[in-house]
Amino acid sequence: MEYAIELAKKGIYTTSPNPSVGCIITEGNKILSEGYHLKSGSDHAEVIALKNLKKKVNNETCMYITLEPCCHTGKTGPCTDTIIKSGIKNIFISMLDPNPLVKGKGVKKLRSNGISVNIGLCKDLSEKINRGFISRVTKKIPYVTAKQAISMDYKITNPKSKWISSAQSRKDVQYFRAKSCAILVSSKTIIKDNSKLKIKLKKSDLNNNEKIIHPIRIVLDTNLSLNINKYNIFEGKEKKIIFNSISTSYNENKNIDFIKIRKDKNGLRLKNIFNILAIKYEINNLYIEPGSKLLNTLVSYNLIDELVFYKSPEIIGKLGLSTLVINSKPSKNISIVTESITKISNDVRIIYKFLRK
Ligand SMILES: NC(=O)c1ccc[n+]([C@@H]2O[C@H](COP(=O)([O-])OP(=O)(O)OC[C@H]3O[C@@H](n4cnc5c(N)ncnc54)[C@H](OP(=O)(O)O)[C@@H]3O)[C@@H](O)[C@H]2O)c1
Repeated sequence: MEYAIELAKKGIYTTSPNPSVGCIITEGNKILSEGYHLKSGSDHAEVIALKNLKKKVNNETCMYITLEPCCHTGKTGPCTDTIIKSGIKNIFISMLDPNPLVKGKGVKKLRSNGISVNIGLCKDLSEKINRGFISRVTKKIPYVTAKQAISMDYKITNPKSKWISSAQSRKDVQYFRAKSCAILVSSKTIIKDNSKLKIKLKKSDLNNNEKIIHPIRIVLDTNLSLNINKYNIFEGKEKKIIFNSISTSYNENKNIDFIKIRKDKNGLRLKNIFNILAIKYEINNLYIEPGSKLLNTLVSYNLIDELVFYKSPEIIGKLGLSTLVINSKPSKNISIVTESITKISNDVRIIYKFLRK
């Protein structure tokens, strides 16, 4: 199953809004064939593994799949039917499909056709690669990751330089962006940085031959103050969304959806925005590059799942803007754990996990 999960990971840059799934077929200690899901509309992992199988199925043949096979017709037919037809009688499934409309039904269909199904092998690992998909279908919000580059004295802007973190850390950020379905920033950050927010990696960096998918680009612009002809983020034909408090409309020329959102005391209601992103745009993984104010709201209101700091050994001093400045009492409903600490060039990447209760 660990190997099937490694195969599933090959799809993490392309399968959205679908989950990433891997599958192998074995006999005894031998792997006879393998497959993984690459993108929406293409064959599912188990169907590919069955197509690749060159040996006749017997009582020893086993299938290992990272996610419960589907039993309904979507863009492709039900995988359960293909498995039943193949004659395989032993199946290991790492995790059930979290979609309440599907959950358990695929397993039921397989079992009612005389197939032995074992559930739960390496479940935590499978859940981790599909945490965005799980969040979207069960909670109707994306899995939210926020990222900041900070200095040793916790500043996020440097009056003397455009960058805080090293080139290697900035390349690492590109992988996080590539895994995300959308990237969100504020109007303040656009005005200051004017970034394109596109993926700067090559196909070879992502180890696949597929076209690089640029995430949807999202801006919070409460009063529609940005000139869409001026900033790089609005260039190109990819989808962009501007959440604001004034109007809902569509700019065909620039492919921008303007969506009106109600305000609260911090600004636009982020929870509403996240619901729209999950339900209307099928965003599994949302990557936010917040400044100080936006990060404060996200943390104070318990709206993130993961915070990634790239901490450089530089000291910026009082002219820089500070990262988190939480004046209110911290929420009792969050517990934060340090998931990993990694040295990247001269920086340290720290990933904090926010466990929402
Ligand atoms: N080091 C890093 O990794 C990093 C990352 C990002 C940004 N930055 C820097 O941070 C600076 C900007 O930081 P900032 O604190 O001024 O701005 P920010 O945190 O990026 O964004 C705050 C702005 O977002 C909009 N907003 C709308 N709804 C909101 C809500 N519910 N909660 C919070 N904000 C909401 C508001 O602007 P409107 O009223 O215009 O909508 C608000 O002023 C820039 O200099 C940028 O370069 C650094």
